[in-house]
Amino acid sequence: MAERRPIVGGNWKMHTNRQTGRSLAGEVAQGLAGLETVDVVVFPPFPYLLPVAEVLAEHGGRVKLGAQDLYHEPEGAFTGEVSASMLLDCGAEYVLIGHSERRHVLGEDDTTVNIKLLAALEAGLWPVLCIGETLEQREAGRTDEVNERQLRAGLRGVGPDQADRLTIAYEPVWAIGTGKTATPEDAQAAQHRARGVIGDLLGSGVAETIPIQYGGSVKGANAADLFTRPDVDGGLVGGASLKGEEFVAICRAAAERGRGD
Ligand code: PGA
Repeated sequence: MAERRPIVGGNWKMHTNRQTGRSLAGEVAQGLAGLETVDVVVFPPFPYLLPVAEVLAEHGGRVKLGAQDLYHEPEGAFTGEVSASMLLDCGAEYVLIGHSERRHVLGEDDTTVNIKLLAALEAGLWPVLCIGETLEQREAGRTDEVNERQLRAGLRGVGPDQADRLTIAYEPVWAIGTGKTATPEDAQAAQHRARGVIGDLLGSGVAETIPIQYGGSVKGANAADLFTRPDVDGGLVGGASLKGEEFVAICRAAAERGRGD
């Protein structure tokens, strides 16, 4: 079993409010007390970063804070946008880059994703680069080609020395929010090939150290099976991350893997 530390993210998307976000963060932090073998990050909407940061700090900072997006410029006349330094100022350490909803609903292309990733690394954030194919692409047998393109474009200009702050999330678009999960075999196959591409870009030794999460309808019921696969280093969880107890169960499943065989 690789020595990579598993990591589970809770992507709250455009859900929660100040009060429910705070209590969800508290429930997660409490549920994870004593669980050492997994990294856990929650990604609330921008307005709730600060109140959630407060709750996480009250519980000892075991659960990390992340943002769902950023804008690449450090500051300026960019109405509605949020910079990396603002996120850090609010206590965020992680940031999602190129989530499928940013790509497919909000129109971000590979170049935008790459610029954002570089800005995140430059600022000292820990980016989670999201990749994954659509149903149409999968049915056309293009899964690996699409993942490879998104990885090569997304990681352009990233040096091996920056890789220790990098996480990849493989999230097939057809599995996100649909209740359809990739089989553990399919997730493993895609993630193994993705690791090969990362090895080509950054060196195979470095690629072995980078966690690759699976995302797309991860639940308490399927997490353990997914996380036993050698290249599935935890999960990026949407819907199930809004239920404290279920999210904690998913984190526990990843922590079991983190204990090694
Ligand atoms: P889901 O979302 O778990 O609701 O499928 C995953 C994600 O979008 O990160």
